[in-house]
Amino acid sequence: MAGGVKWFIANWKSNKNVAESLSWLELFGPQLTSSESSKVVVCPSTLAAAPMKKLAEDNHYDLMIGLQNISAFGVGAFTGELAAEQAKGVADLVIIGHSERRQKLGETDAMVADKVTQAKEAGLLALVCVQDANTPIPDNTDMVAYEPIWAIGSGTADTPENAAAVIAEIKQKVGRDIPVLYGGSVKADNAKTFLERDEIDGLLVGGASLDPQQFITIVQQWT
Ligand code: PGA
Repeated sequence: MAGGVKWFIANWKSNKNVAESLSWLELFGPQLTSSESSKVVVCPSTLAAAPMKKLAEDNHYDLMIGLQNISAFGVGAFTGELAAEQAKGVADLVIIGHSERRQKLGETDAMVADKVTQAKEAGLLALVCVQDANTPIPDNTDMVAYEPIWAIGSGTADTPENAAAVIAEIKQKVGRDIPVLYGGSVKADNAKTFLERDEIDGLLVGGASLDPQQFITIVQQWT
């Protein structure tokens, strides 16, 4: 999966209601051109995921829908949780272990591992976020995002040199050829400096993805 393909993943966090999410897609979708060399995933709120998927399918927009979290448990008596099985047919990918969830919601490495297992059993791509090369990565993880905590939402991104070095180390530790992305204050004006690095297989974009124009500009750096 790595070899040349770059991933562009929008992480909206707790932003945008359903109507705002659909308006974003109506602006973004028509500007997106299919490309062999890039893959685009939008991770809106759980509520917006299904209507966005339908809008994308109806209009043949070439993008996938992702989720920002998934239950560590299966279907059953887990009030308030979304089981991976329930997301089938809507989501293609799920972000697991984002540092905000680790720091603010007590998510542990063990929970991350359980969530990866659940995602895989339901056929979802499991994207695990790590803050450095020491964060444990479950064996069956499909993709990784290196996101140094100090770079998230701060306006100060890591340098492409350091990000590439950490990502190379992560790849060596994983021992399989899986995509490893960079995330943390990626904007339209610095995206290319990361994309130019062979080690970096794409970008996980928070704040800058909320604006359809800025996100399409980032995606268009690699076509
Ligand atoms: P940011 O967030 O692009 O706003 O820094 C990235 C993330 O948290 O995934």
